[in-house]
Formats: sequence, structure tokens, C-alpha cells
Amino acid sequence: MSMPRILPCLAATTALLMSSCASHRPAHAWPDASALPAHANLPNPLLHWDGSEVQSPQQWEQRRRPELKKLFQHYMYGFLPPTPRRTQFHNHGVFANALQGKASLKLVEIQTGDGKAPRIQLMMLVPNQRRGPVPVFLAMNFCGNHAVLADPRIPLNPGWFYNSCKGCADGRSTEASRGSQSADWPVDEIISSGYALATFCTNDIDADRKDVSDGVYAWLAEEWRDAKIAEPANRGTIAAWAWGFHRCVDYLTRDPDIDGSRIAAVGHSRNGKTALLAAAMDERIALAIPHQAGCGGTAPSRGQIGESVERINTAFPHWFNAEFKKFNKDTARLPFDQHCLVALCAPRPVLMSNAQEDEWANPRGQFDMLVAADPVYRFIGVNGLDTMTLPPLGELSGGRLGYYIRAGKHSMTAGDWKVFIQFANKHLSKGGGF
Ligand code: GCU
Repeated sequence: MSMPRILPCLAATTALLMSSCASHRPAHAWPDASALPAHANLPNPLLHWDGSEVQSPQQWEQRRRPELKKLFQHYMYGFLPPTPRRTQFHNHGVFANALQGKASLKLVEIQTGDGKAPRIQLMMLVPNQRRGPVPVFLAMNFCGNHAVLADPRIPLNPGWFYNSCKGCADGRSTEASRGSQSADWPVDEIISSGYALATFCTNDIDADRKDVSDGVYAWLAEEWRDAKIAEPANRGTIAAWAWGFHRCVDYLTRDPDIDGSRIAAVGHSRNGKTALLAAAMDERIALAIPHQAGCGGTAPSRGQIGESVERINTAFPHWFNAEFKKFNKDTARLPFDQHCLVALCAPRPVLMSNAQEDEWANPRGQFDMLVAADPVYRFIGVNGLDTMTLPPLGELSGGRLGYYIRAGKHSMTAGDWKVFIQFANKHLSKGGGF
């Protein structure tokens, strides 16, 4: 085992004073869900809340985008925890001999706030053959960093896991879980394509269960109680995870090995819902790949195929806020649909990738969301979708709004990563389309 070098940007543990602390703002007085008008068809993203048309790209940027961000947090995801006043990055090792010397393994701990705040363990693989800072896939994983790559230097994640994570027992990971997901993460190919991989686990931020006694909101509640600020009621685990993406971006934009202008957010399924929300809410993310994200992410809430809003709110009540439950039987009253979340990413590229047998995630409805987001891309002067018909199986569409569907089931495979890399190559290459 090589001795850890000090990360160049971390000559010592670096305390970073974040530029602003988004303090807990009072909720906007939006009407109750039952008082909202019904839209049987998709709401027009280019109409303001008051019904007036968005007149210019500038108005989109300055008025409609912030309004949509607030609406999504109020009626669906819950608020994203604020940007911390203080973040520290701890170097837990840089090992230049990972992947038979092709990559450096970096272990970075991101600490927000005081000692009790959640700490995110970011595991990175950076190509050793590089001429300068490299673009990065930033991906959230389900089963721990140690499950992505079987390298004994990666600590076992001590948090709570579903037992469906291979090698986990009684909700905890064991040595048997090392590398158990490596088939889904073709790290050699990512590295040889010139990308770094940075990955972190959901449960460093908030465990994926109904229990709200731990995670970032529990910490915030305590902080705010001490500060005599009311405990937040408007919370959701997907928003917490998206906040986790943002904290990793805080680090990546400061790592000299990484090109902070070329960060692609990736996630599968519930993690894909999160990757899209994270990109919609933070312009530092250059590209989003919500893979098979489905309901509550890339599929229409008004959709008739696959998972419904009522079903997702019942099976996973912690993912969304209390307000979203009010739309269970009345999705037509939602003042947006998921095309508006995609539109919040404009002009940045978004790829929705799917599997033919994964009807639960409504692949066809996802394409409809891209079609409905496309006018916003055009309105601000860039291309969106390059086809209005569903691309054939196995063919990645062109345009900043990409779509891909392959044969097979709900899963993230090495073949899917080839498409992620293809999309990123097209849109993140230096001097490329972005
Ligand atoms: C369930 C859930 C989906 C989710 C998926 C996953 O199937 O209903 O909404 O995307 O789990 O995250 O794997």
C-alpha cells in the first residue's frame, strides 16, 4: 500500500467559508394543493405563475427559473438544505497505484458544519495519464463506495443498507460486500476514456428509510432548534441527496486534477431522480444523466403508465414532502410536471436512458418530457431534441436533450456506461457543443 500523499489542494485540512449561507427562508405563501387549478395537459414552462408569458431568455433566467425552483421544493421535493457556512475537506489518502497503475484512488471526506453534521465520503478514481484537469462523472451509489470497487483501502461504509445490497446483513455492510457492484461500474473504461469517477453513498447524507431520526435534516433540526428557528416540516430525502451532490461539487470545483466546468451528474433510478434534481438546482453541474429514473424524476407525474404518484408516495413516503401527497389522486393540479425540471437544466445537456422492459419507469413518457422541455431550450437559443420521434432501440439521439433506450430490464450496466461516455464525449469535450 503506498503512503497517502497530501492532496495538492489540501496542504492541510482546508476549512472553506462558503460564499453565502442560504438561511432558512420563510416559505412563500403558495396556495394549498386543493386550491390549485387543474391542468389536464402539461403546464407550459414558459408561463409565469401569474399566467403571463415569459418574454425573453433573460426573464426566463431571472424570474421563471427561480419561481420553478421554489415551486418544485414547495409542492414536491421539500426544500434543499442550505449551503453550509463552513465546509472542510479532509484528505484520507491518495494512492497512485489503483487499477494496475492506471488511476489514482483518492479518498476525501467532506464535513459540513460542526462535528455532528453528516460527513460525505467521496471516493475518486482519476486517470494517471492526463495532460491537465479531467472531466468527471459524479455519481451517487446505493451500496457504498466499497461496493463499487473491491479495493481494501476503501473503508466499509458503516451506515444502514437494504439487505438487497449484496454482502449486507442486518442492514450493515460486511467484507463480503466489497466490489459487489463492480460489474455496474466499468471503472477501467471510464478511466481509459479520460474521465475521473467520483462517487458517494446515499446514506452518508440520509439513509434510504422512513426513519427521520438521522441524516442531514435531523442535524439541521437540532441546529435550528438551538438557533430558535422553527424545525423544518417541508423535507424529502431526494432533496437531501441532491444537497449531497452539491457538497461534492464544492469539493470537485476545488480539486486541481478535475475540470470543475465539466462535471456530469449520474444516478440510477432513485439516484437518477436525485441527479436530475441536483442538476436542475445547481448550474455548476454541466450535464445530467438520470438513468431509468421514472416517476418523481424523469417520467410525467400525470403519466398513465408505470409507477403513479400515489404509489411512490405510499411506498417511499420519505422521498418527497408532505405537500406532494396531496396530489396522489389529483396530479392534474400540479403546477408543473417533470419537463419543467428538465427545462431548469437548460442550456445544459440531459440524457434520459432507459430499458425496454422497464415499463415501471415509463420510458415513452420520459421521451414526452423531453419533447415538452425542448421549447425552453429553443427559447433560450440552443438546440434541444434533434428528433420528435422515439429513437430506435440501441440508438442514442443527438441534441442536448438526449434519449436512449436499449433492450432489457431495469439495471445499470457496463453497456449503459458506454452510452453515458458517448453522450459526455459529445457534449463535454473541449470546444464541443457546450
Ligand atoms: C422502486 C421505485 C422506483 C425507483 C426504484 C429504484 O422501483 O418504485 O421509483 O426508481 O425503486 O430506485 O430502484
